[in-house]
Amino acid sequence: MMEPQDNIEEDDAAASASPPPRSLPRQRVSLQKSSVCSRSYFMVVMVFFHVYIINVIALLLYVHYNNGSNAITANRDFTSRDNNHKVTGPPDPQTPADSGFPRNMYLPRIEGIRVGHVQKVSLVPGKVHEMKTLSLKPLLFEIPEFLSEEECGVVVRLAQLKGLMESQVMVPEGQEELNQQLNLSPEEIFNFLDLNQDGQLQPHEILTHSRVRDGIWLTSENLKEIYDGLKVDQDGNGLLNLEEFKRLKSDAFQRFLLQRGVERSQLVRNSRHTWLYQGQGAHQVLQDLRKRVTSLTRLPSSLVELSEPLQVVRYEQGGHYHAHHDSGPVYPETACTHTRLAANTTSPFQTSCRYITVLFYLNNVEEGGETTFPVADNRTYEEASLIQNDVDLLDTRKHCDKGNLRVKPIKGTAVFWYNYLSDGRGWVGEQDEYSLHGGCVVTRGTKWVANNWINVDPDYQRQARYQQFVSQQQEQEELISELNSDQHIERHQDL
Ligand code: OGA
Ligand code: CA
Ligand code: FE2
Repeated sequence: MMEPQDNIEEDDAAASASPPPRSLPRQRVSLQKSSVCSRSYFMVVMVFFHVYIINVIALLLYVHYNNGSNAITANRDFTSRDNNHKVTGPPDPQTPADSGFPRNMYLPRIEGIRVGHVQKVSLVPGKVHEMKTLSLKPLLFEIPEFLSEEECGVVVRLAQLKGLMESQVMVPEGQEELNQQLNLSPEEIFNFLDLNQDGQLQPHEILTHSRVRDGIWLTSENLKEIYDGLKVDQDGNGLLNLEEFKRLKSDAFQRFLLQRGVERSQLVRNSRHTWLYQGQGAHQVLQDLRKRVTSLTRLPSSLVELSEPLQVVRYEQGGHYHAHHDSGPVYPETACTHTRLAANTTSPFQTSCRYITVLFYLNNVEEGGETTFPVADNRTYEEASLIQNDVDLLDTRKHCDKGNLRVKPIKGTAVFWYNYLSDGRGWVGEQDEYSLHGGCVVTRGTKWVANNWINVDPDYQRQARYQQFVSQQQEQEELISELNSDQHIERHQDL
């Protein structure tokens, strides 16, 4: 892309350096030559033409890879039977299979088409649901009346029966240890934090990296309080230079806050939750819900069945959940929590590999409690720009109104989104950073929601190995219970 531009300059320079023609036998011709037919004019036009073509090709390639458009929609199992329900199906079967398990499982993705687009979906007999696209980045949909009033009530009552626990407990863990392991000097840490490299640490530079320490959420007000309390910012300009920074021990913030006392509202999340099993023998409503989620997402039922149980969450008045990703980025050495058992290796990095989040609203909240997607459909994503002029877009207690998208909790409505992009071959790709979301503070009343997370390992082989492992376990269990029942019959015959 740089080359043509360099040419422009060269050609312009060459044109201006060439001497004007001495004799001009025909005025008209020479005029035309110097304006539209000159070599430099021609070169400029050609360069623009090339740049244009390159841009078009780059755009086409971008669209192609972002949609995983080498996917075709021919596979009977995983494509929509409903013409209005748009999905991208499995990739070209010619795609060479990795060594190990053949690739015979694909993850269709529902197409968003455009924001506001409504597709009709049939999920339960005798009812047609409408699924509306809320954003394309992340790919996010809303389905009103996904659950009936009664179903919402049953889920809430089952959760109450089981009992809910605090979603976050205040256990200060040593952040110090990590720094010691990394063995970084204060200068190195300072340089790392000083994003704009101006030799001063602005509050947002500290917060971008230290917003959450031991589960405590730091705000710029906390920061001021800490600076004053520890007397680090001697010139009082709100910025830390290296000398001032050196006066801070790495766990100084947490020690200070713990000493002063931390309230639940200062944690990353302030809610209670429980888990409800949805497999065989579970309450019919819970089993139905899981089947509906399978129809909605169009994923192979084996994947949905092997995912986490339903998580039911209750926020009291004043409850919140600051913006977060439900599942982390995946590096080659990252293990998934759900497939770890069947994996041969151990890894220090682990994430829950929640490919999809399906969130259900189980009641109408009197006021507040929206789900916010602060960077949905942003043109760009930059972690550093999430805090600007003291506005921290991740802070759902203070700045929910400044995010790009908010979903109002309406009883029975479901929203669902993809936490990962497609790899373009019908499987899980990179984390979708735009899937950042949180629960805004509940200003009046209580809020009940439930999460169904669909776990998929981005490493196809690991997922396949895990599924094989589980089905072998199930076969063994079935065999044992069959043997037991045979013995039972024999004993009866003996009598
Ligand atoms: C969650 C979550 C959002 C909400 O439970 O992971 O993001 O609106 N909840 O409660
Ligand atoms: Ca700085
Ligand atoms: Fe979440």
